[in-house]
Amino acid sequence: MTTPVDATSTPAWDKLAQLQPTIVDGPHVLRRWFDADPGRAQRYTFEAADLHVDLSKNLLTDEVRDALLELADQVRIPARRDAMYSGEHINVTEDRAVLHTALRRPAGDSLTVDGQDAVADVHEVLERIYDFARQVRSGEWKGATGKPIRTIVNIGIGGSDLGPVMAYEALRPYVQDGLECRFISNIDPTDAAVKTADLDPETTLVIVASKTFTTLETLTNARCVRTWLLDGLVAAGAVEDTEEARNAAVAKHFVAVSTALDRVAAFGIDPANAFGFWSWVGGRYSVDSAVGTALAVAIGPEGFADFLSGFHAIDEHFATAAPEQNVPLLMGLLNIWYVNFWNAHSHAVLPYSQYMHRFPAYLQQLTMESNGKSVRWDGTPVTCQTGEIFWGEPGTNGQHAFYQLIHQGTRVIPADFIAVANPTHPTKDGGTDVHELFLSNFFAQTAALAFGKTAAEVEAEGTPANIVPARVFSGDRPTTSILADELSPKILGELIALYEHITFVEGTVWGIDSFDQWGVELGKKLALEIAPAVSGDDAALASQDSSTQGLVSWYRARRS
Ligand code: F6P
Repeated sequence: MTTPVDATSTPAWDKLAQLQPTIVDGPHVLRRWFDADPGRAQRYTFEAADLHVDLSKNLLTDEVRDALLELADQVRIPARRDAMYSGEHINVTEDRAVLHTALRRPAGDSLTVDGQDAVADVHEVLERIYDFARQVRSGEWKGATGKPIRTIVNIGIGGSDLGPVMAYEALRPYVQDGLECRFISNIDPTDAAVKTADLDPETTLVIVASKTFTTLETLTNARCVRTWLLDGLVAAGAVEDTEEARNAAVAKHFVAVSTALDRVAAFGIDPANAFGFWSWVGGRYSVDSAVGTALAVAIGPEGFADFLSGFHAIDEHFATAAPEQNVPLLMGLLNIWYVNFWNAHSHAVLPYSQYMHRFPAYLQQLTMESNGKSVRWDGTPVTCQTGEIFWGEPGTNGQHAFYQLIHQGTRVIPADFIAVANPTHPTKDGGTDVHELFLSNFFAQTAALAFGKTAAEVEAEGTPANIVPARVFSGDRPTTSILADELSPKILGELIALYEHITFVEGTVWGIDSFDQWGVELGKKLALEIAPAVSGDDAALASQDSSTQGLVSWYRARRS
């Protein structure tokens, strides 16, 4: 295990700390920078595969950029990136390689990890998934009563849900007509009840997705949905009410995705109907593994292959682009700049794309489960703040909700704006192109955040003096603009890989193992310990703290 470099004791960190107070040397610094430097936008705009990324509206100067790039070298980001790509066990607390990048390497590549060719393994499973997808899409795969499948229900949680549902929603226009996916994640029984209420068990296929196949929520939901599906088939007279007939029906209606194929078998799903992946794929980095099976069925093998090619294009960019043009590197370093030198607590991600409405939620697991840590990979405490809160909603909805805080609040909230040039649903409102109106908001918001509105400008509009301060916009609110041609599978893959590598860059600066998630364990364990108390076990209740006893007692008294 290499010892993490303490970023805060590097010369680059000192330089950044010295630069920070000098950057904003008065109001409206971004206006002044743009006025003085007509080439600024061009100089800070980069292409990463198909992504057009404008960093110019950030609190960034050449000096800051250079110091950030020095920091990247001093904390050895290139070496750690190479170690990740080559399969070294950089996830030290779980002693695992971190190889989501191998999931999207083209067929024919090879990478030996722990004695096994990971890329060959990936493509073997991919071919099985594609074959399965073709069977479902063509109607060749039939349910127990001989009917083709119309609905795929994916049961999973965290990385086994957020990626597939986000990508399915984002790529809706690519979904085959007549097929629908639904996603059940929450152990709140409402989720499964609502999502299955109008489904026909005869035409429903369930994918149980769980890396570990031990997750309480997923296994509980899988059992409940199995009961719903088999009872439905029996009630409709479609299947006999015998153990044998029920098991035979499971084989036609349930497949599994997991790294633990023995547990899949124990659950009653034939391992022939299971798609595996590997311990070196973290849950939140798994949408491009077999965890994306529902998506592969929905958008088809060609669409899924395009999706993977987008990830790979950004992997290549991150591995090979010069540091001063390396977008994931620069964006990750900018986040460090804001978190550690501007005291930013959060980071907004604002897709101007209704189809991307689950993207911020997806990023929350990716970024916060990865970098929400207080110790470094050698067990020593971190030496600075880590893990900002990622949040967001699609524009323009957010404009009418929380943008007020970004424009005029007291905190620095860096924001990423994401949009595509070509709409899926070109629409005219009279003579107005609605997509253009939509994008005008994107462009206007980033300009307003950067350049603001001075008191003199507000006064010149005839605003009464006592109201002027409330209508002033300070500007200098940092944003990054990310544009692409269209929301295709490839471009979605590029966007996801971009944020994966941004997360990696931040984690490396902080000395964090971004690939474990021990912080989720305690709550899971306590839930199992408390469950008997909730169900009426007085001895179990007595062993709880007084607050928990009070809450559980209140619940037990009210439960009808
Ligand atoms: O509890 C957190 C977590 O382990 C996530 O990291 C993971 O994505 C999720 O649970 C689901 O895990 P699994 O895929 O093993 O069911």
